[in-house]
Amino acid sequence: FESLGSASEASASSSTHKTSKVSIVGAGAVGSTMAYAALMRGSARTVALYDINASKVQAEVLDLSHGIQFMPMANVLGSDDVEVCRDSDVIMVTAGAKQKPGQSRIDLAEATINLVKTILPPLLEVAPNATYVMVTNPVDVVTYAALKITGLPRHQLFGSGTVLDSSRLRYVLARELGVAVQNVHAYMAGEHGDSEIPLWSSATIGGVPLLDWPGINGRGPLTEAQREAIANEVITSAYSIIEGKGATNYAVALAGSRIIEALLKDENRVLPVSTLVDNYFSITDVCLSIPTVVGGRGAAEQLRVPLSNAEYDGLKSSAQKLKEVARQFGY
Ligand code: LAC
Repeated sequence: FESLGSASEASASSSTHKTSKVSIVGAGAVGSTMAYAALMRGSARTVALYDINASKVQAEVLDLSHGIQFMPMANVLGSDDVEVCRDSDVIMVTAGAKQKPGQSRIDLAEATINLVKTILPPLLEVAPNATYVMVTNPVDVVTYAALKITGLPRHQLFGSGTVLDSSRLRYVLARELGVAVQNVHAYMAGEHGDSEIPLWSSATIGGVPLLDWPGINGRGPLTEAQREAIANEVITSAYSIIEGKGATNYAVALAGSRIIEALLKDENRVLPVSTLVDNYFSITDVCLSIPTVVGGRGAAEQLRVPLSNAEYDGLKSSAQKLKEVARQFGY
């Protein structure tokens, strides 16, 4: 199934390389919203949706295509045949079991690892040179397993990690302190899950360290208790949203489109993606999220942001938890 973009908006996509193609595996809530986000943002020239459910993927492609006039120039493809992913530059893997209310992401590990074991080899057949971004949960363990299954180097296969969680943290900080979210630079690191940690000591607002933030306009500074409450709100966000609407999709899809753009537009953007670490502050042989330069080279330099002792301990215990889960499934 294919639709062509409208010529009138060709210029709108001039910043995206004309042949750039992203394929999104899984046409569920996350995958179809990610396709929509990527199209609306002009992240790629061609967006392909791949799902084994033919009627679902056809319906999603049609519904997206009917709005193509209002988007930057793009082609929209979709199929239940992996052929639709051929020669992709980027492949986003969103297919996998959904978190049910009260279920942790780690609970999905067995089902999702078995799924990626099945879908990765045929994807590599049609797109051996693509950069693979795992989104499906538990994303850190799935990324580690996918590296072992595919044999791809760490820069070519990584996970969406805590890009979403860091966006949540920045939103809450901006809300509490009355500043624009664009001026808040703060990361959640470690597991995309219950053991993730906020990196308070490297967080800044407009260049001012968060821990020295004086407060403006009657808002702030933050007490330690308020910081803990903010971290807890971020860590439990997905549970609250799933309780209310059954899944999360918008913010994770936007986080995914940000990663797509960094890759396809060679932005060298610093993003906390889940990558294989090798002696990162003595943490090794595990996939977890740390600030990483993401561009045309894939997941490149891993930045050694300053860590307090508490943050270093938190990162180590997050790594330990992820290693134990990976070992449970033979990785
Ligand atoms: C969330 C899912 C994507 O955190 O893990 O919303």
